[in-house]
Amino acid sequence: MKISLFLLCFLILLPISLQDDAIPQVKKIPSRAHAELTNHGFPIGLLPLSVKDYVLNKTSGDFSLFLHGTCKITLPPDNYIATYSNKVTGRISQGKIAELHGIRVRAFFKSWSITGIRSSGDNLVFEVAGITAKYPSKNFDETLDCEGKRSSS
Ligand SMILES: *[C@@H]1O[C@H](CO)[C@@H](O)[C@H](O)[C@H]1NC(C)=O
Repeated sequence: MKISLFLLCFLILLPISLQDDAIPQVKKIPSRAHAELTNHGFPIGLLPLSVKDYVLNKTSGDFSLFLHGTCKITLPPDNYIATYSNKVTGRISQGKIAELHGIRVRAFFKSWSITGIRSSGDNLVFEVAGITAKYPSKNFDETLDCEGKRSSS
């Protein structure tokens, strides 16, 4: 009786410990805006950590995202500086963010607007100035805080 109870506990706990091993960092989803990203097949690291407000029309996918001011983030792996306006708008659907406004990335001595992002298998495809750039999605698993904020903490 004692042994079977022990075994039962073991069998119940086993999947939990296995899961923890399989996923070393349990990701906390910081906000509803980040949750909508994961709902649509995107990693949370596309957005800065602190989001002030977020409005989504579930029918059309049109969203407006409000940050606590302009926000700069260094994007892995090439360390491009992405600048988020305090208002970012776009249209999100499964695996696709279109008509994006408010995110610019600095590369080749120039600032470019990211106009769309697609999720394609294990990659994210960024549309910038009519060309596309592909990066592994796992680079965006972590959500980063704005650089101005980090120095104050
Ligand atoms: C949401 O989008 C639908 C489809 O484009 C539109 O008919 C509706 O008016 C929108 N709702 C709001 C609250 O903007």
